[in-house]
Amino acid sequence: MNEKPRILVTRRWPTACEKRLSEHYQVTLNELNEPMGVEALKAAMRDHDAVLPTVTDPITTEVLSQDPIRCRFIGNFGVGYNHIDMATARSRGIVVSNTPDVLTDCTADIALLLLLMTARRASEGEILLRSGQWTGWHPTHLLGTKVAGKTLGLIGFGRIAKAVAQRAHFGFGMKILVKGRKPIPKTELALFDAQEAESLESLLRDSDFVSLHCPGSAENRHLINRDRLNAMKPEGILINTARGDVVDSEALIDALKTQSIRAAGLDVYEAEPHLHPGFLTLDNVSLLPHLGSATEETRTGMGMKVIDNLDAFFRGETPPDKVA
Ligand code: DGY
Repeated sequence: MNEKPRILVTRRWPTACEKRLSEHYQVTLNELNEPMGVEALKAAMRDHDAVLPTVTDPITTEVLSQDPIRCRFIGNFGVGYNHIDMATARSRGIVVSNTPDVLTDCTADIALLLLLMTARRASEGEILLRSGQWTGWHPTHLLGTKVAGKTLGLIGFGRIAKAVAQRAHFGFGMKILVKGRKPIPKTELALFDAQEAESLESLLRDSDFVSLHCPGSAENRHLINRDRLNAMKPEGILINTARGDVVDSEALIDALKTQSIRAAGLDVYEAEPHLHPGFLTLDNVSLLPHLGSATEETRTGMGMKVIDNLDAFFRGETPPDKVA
């Protein structure tokens, strides 16, 4: 009888997913559920047929350069795979898959949550209550800005951006402006009565809210820099649920401090889990700890999707979510 493939999972997964994995594979779990260091990741590549990392595990050239290397498949628990050195994975003959679709709704919800939190100053309100400093209702207390009828600019127009457009347009009566990497077909724009911006700058200039939905990559690093923050309206609000390094944190902190923009809502950060201390001194930023996909349903769906891809790989098929 053939031995079951040896699989390493870098962090703990929802119980149903770990159970399904253990039924078909020899599974090594990270019982302590602490981030694995470089040496442990290297050993994982040497000793396992497949490694199932998540978005916080740097799968670098160094990690992938083990010789000999046993790992033939990397099933990423997450849709973003900017933490995996794809060129080296390819050169080592390792197949990589990710988890699109299952997290679209919940990540879009978090973008809308941040949009509402920042517009209506929810974080400031809660801090006031928790610190016992609320003195009661009055006509000019914690005035936010209205959402209905405002323009939401989406940078990137993939699945999550479309789910945000759906919610914002049909739920909140917002006008949608978009700028993607490629020209957007009119039929797709028509779904949300959206307009395509001529340029990134014109989108920043014309939007009341700007929400980022582009992938993390070297190309998109600091896409939102000092100049682009300056291009936003003074009452503009920036939402980032994509990747932390798409925004230059120092420049954003300055823009929030000087109120060259009104507010920001962030779910992702450069150098996670470390937060730039400058954010903590500001009232006009709402901060969440990378919660985009954090629901029981979605995280279970993500784990099951990784296993579907893993199963396909070991059946000798092309995994349905193989990353190009
Ligand atoms: C992803 O899958 O890339 C997300 O950032 C996890 O929430």
